Amino acid sequence: SAALADNHEDFIQCLSPSNQTSSNIYTPNNSSFSSVLQKSIQNLRFNTTKTPKPLVIVTPVSEFEVQLVILCAKKTGMHVRVRGGGHDYEGLSYVSEVPLAVVDLINHRKINVNVNDKSAWVEAGSTIGELYYRISEKSKTLGFPAGVCPTVGVGGHFSGGGYGTLLRKYGLSADNIVDARLIDANGRILDRNSMGEDLFWAIRGGGGNTFGLVLAWKVKLVDVPEKVTVFTLNKTLEQNATKLIHKWQYVAPRFPEDLFIRILVNRLNSSDQGGNNKQTLVASFNSIFLGRIDQLLPIMQENFAELGLRREDCIEMSWIESIMYFAGFPGGASPNVLLSRVQLLTRNFKAKSDYVYQPIPEGGLEGIWKLFFEDESQAAQVILSPYGGRMDDISSSSIPFPHRVGNLYKIQYLLYWDEQAEEVADRRHISWIRRLYSYMTPFVSKFPRAAYINYRDLDIGVNNIKGHTSYAQAKVWGIKYFKNNFDRLVHVKTKVDPSNFFRNEQSIPSLT
Ligand code: FDA
Repeated sequence: SAALADNHEDFIQCLSPSNQTSSNIYTPNNSSFSSVLQKSIQNLRFNTTKTPKPLVIVTPVSEFEVQLVILCAKKTGMHVRVRGGGHDYEGLSYVSEVPLAVVDLINHRKINVNVNDKSAWVEAGSTIGELYYRISEKSKTLGFPAGVCPTVGVGGHFSGGGYGTLLRKYGLSADNIVDARLIDANGRILDRNSMGEDLFWAIRGGGGNTFGLVLAWKVKLVDVPEKVTVFTLNKTLEQNATKLIHKWQYVAPRFPEDLFIRILVNRLNSSDQGGNNKQTLVASFNSIFLGRIDQLLPIMQENFAELGLRREDCIEMSWIESIMYFAGFPGGASPNVLLSRVQLLTRNFKAKSDYVYQPIPEGGLEGIWKLFFEDESQAAQVILSPYGGRMDDISSSSIPFPHRVGNLYKIQYLLYWDEQAEEVADRRHISWIRRLYSYMTPFVSKFPRAAYINYRDLDIGVNNIKGHTSYAQAKVWGIKYFKNNFDRLVHVKTKVDPSNFFRNEQSIPSLT
């Protein structure tokens, strides 16, 4: 509307009063607007001609400029979203039905690693790949527990928890944050000391774009051995995948915390000996052990001999090489690949998540496979990530992320497809994954049916983005992500951002 358009012009005027053409304010009239917008879009579902576009993108270069964006937005009533790595599953950092300005932190990527006190300051526009790389430049025996895909941004990732292959040993990224610099809704820059422990608690897992704009995180680095061991064993249904997954549920959450074995299940189209197309599933047992092969083999023999792991399946490497191995780069690749912010393969996708407290019976698993075989045109995947170890020791209220003791593992369901912007196809695919989710109901957590905020899923409930959101409405989705921590998050939000300046379709509401 005209009112909204005026609003965004006032916002730009406020940012750049002398009307100088600033090089870091982009509107759709700028020839580079699309490339700046698309640069970090990870889900092609939100890169179509029909996707609502922001009215302005700002890429500030200094903390002062970021502060100015917040102050000007506040003054002119402009709705702002913060974008870090742009990996939000539902595109919330750059898409909304309401007119938006995006503040993209692409120019805030300094990383300062301090080997002596085993810490690092990481600016919030950095990716986890950049963080891993900068740590490895300085030390071969320090690491950080964060996600598998190097292009993920620390801005959103740490705000929602953040986990990867070190989860069972060291917990989440958010468990290892010791300080932060944040711009609050009044435009003030705060650190841990000045923001106080309530707000510092909330930003470590309570979700991005809710309590303020994080400029930088200070993280505690963790010890990793000089050599770790990795392996990936692929098992098809004919090679007893179902029985092996069934057994994995009992052993993987109880392994020593140095051992992490996740499972990725994919459909595989192959031909049999007669040249006929046949379909099977392949379960990849994808693992890292924080130690040597000689230590790993007896553990596997004792706990999971059925998997049949042999010495020749295992590779010893440095921790940073294991990061590249898990990210899918070929052996021998230079760690420089971790600095690239470009995801090699971007597609349309929809994902959902669940937590599992009781092993799923074999028959239950077979029902998933049946759904996998329904439709050849789609690429479905489920990823099972074991919990236990350190995750059992951290209290469920220590940070907002509540999914701790009692969880055997997390499931992520993903569906990828390639058709471009065809609503019919989108609807068909999305309805398939919703059916899978509904099929899983008896096997997963209940009251609430828990979910992981970094696997954002708007199906589980949304705020009223155009108006007031009640506590009860937000609680529908909030309790799934945060369980009993939801109320404390609402309390903090009401205190630090009563006017609900930082908001999105799934941000904690203020009660005022
Ligand atoms: P993006 O910029 O989209 O931000 C996500 C949310 O945080 C938005 O609401 C945004 O406004 C807000 N935000 C961003 N920066 C902020 C800041 N500085 N201050 C305040 N708010 C901010 N997760 C995981 O735990 N383990 C994994 O291995 C993976 N792997 C993975 C692979 C791929 C290909 C994708 C697409 C995603 C994952 N994820 C993941 C999920 C990932 O953790 C999640 O999408 C993060 O929120 C992404 O953070 P970005 O900064 O990249 O996203």
